[in-house]
Amino acid sequence: MKTIGFAMCGSFCTFDAVFDALERIADEYEVVPIMSANAYGTDTRFGSASDYRARLEAICGRAAISTIAAAEPIGPKKLLDLLVIAPATGNTLAKLAHGVSDTSVTLAYKAHLRNRRPVLIAPSTNDALSMNAPNIGALLNRAGHYFVPFGQDDAEGKPTSLQSDFSRIPQAIAAALDGRQLQPLLISYSSIEGAG
Ligand SMILES: Cc1cc2nc3c(=O)[nH]c(=O)nc-3n(C[C@H](O)[C@H](O)[C@H](O)COP(=O)(O)O)c2cc1C
Repeated sequence: MKTIGFAMCGSFCTFDAVFDALERIADEYEVVPIMSANAYGTDTRFGSASDYRARLEAICGRAAISTIAAAEPIGPKKLLDLLVIAPATGNTLAKLAHGVSDTSVTLAYKAHLRNRRPVLIAPSTNDALSMNAPNIGALLNRAGHYFVPFGQDDAEGKPTSLQSDFSRIPQAIAAALDGRQLQPLLISYSSIEGAG
């Protein structure tokens, strides 16, 4: 059975959709849960941090990695066949693009890449087509990097926002493990369930 790291960043409004997708793959792969400190510890209007942690840990059957010390062994122990970052915030995308590794998620990424293994990224950020466009472009062009298909989730209301279609995570994982980008990469927002 392949082992997948599943790293969640602080795009709290997407957590329910991400958990739905995660539940669909939990029997198929060994899933190592990872949360950024913000995802791990921030209560928001979308829900309490402890509820989200508990849900993630129940699906995966193990405690979440939430510190840089806990993330570091991913490299030397070659723990993961694939690292999924879903949802990926603008903050984390910027760090990934620029080699910053000061969170559990960005250090998991750095550690995993040392083994030259694939990464699957699911962006969800309001600045994807503005401040973060160059960062997403850099990651699209990086070897072994794949994306969960994304689109403009509210083109009129949030013209620079992109959100991944999290329901496609299972297919995107299968493709990434096979060395392929799930296509089409760009989707119409009307095809994202519940978007807008
Ligand atoms: C309620 C709430 C919702 C947020 N939603 C998003 C989001 O969808 N996308 C995003 O990039 N940032 C979002 N943020 C901001 C991030 O949580 C913030 O940039 C944080 O520093 C991200 O840290 P991380 O990338 O380490 O998880 C949200 C923040 C809050 C409080």
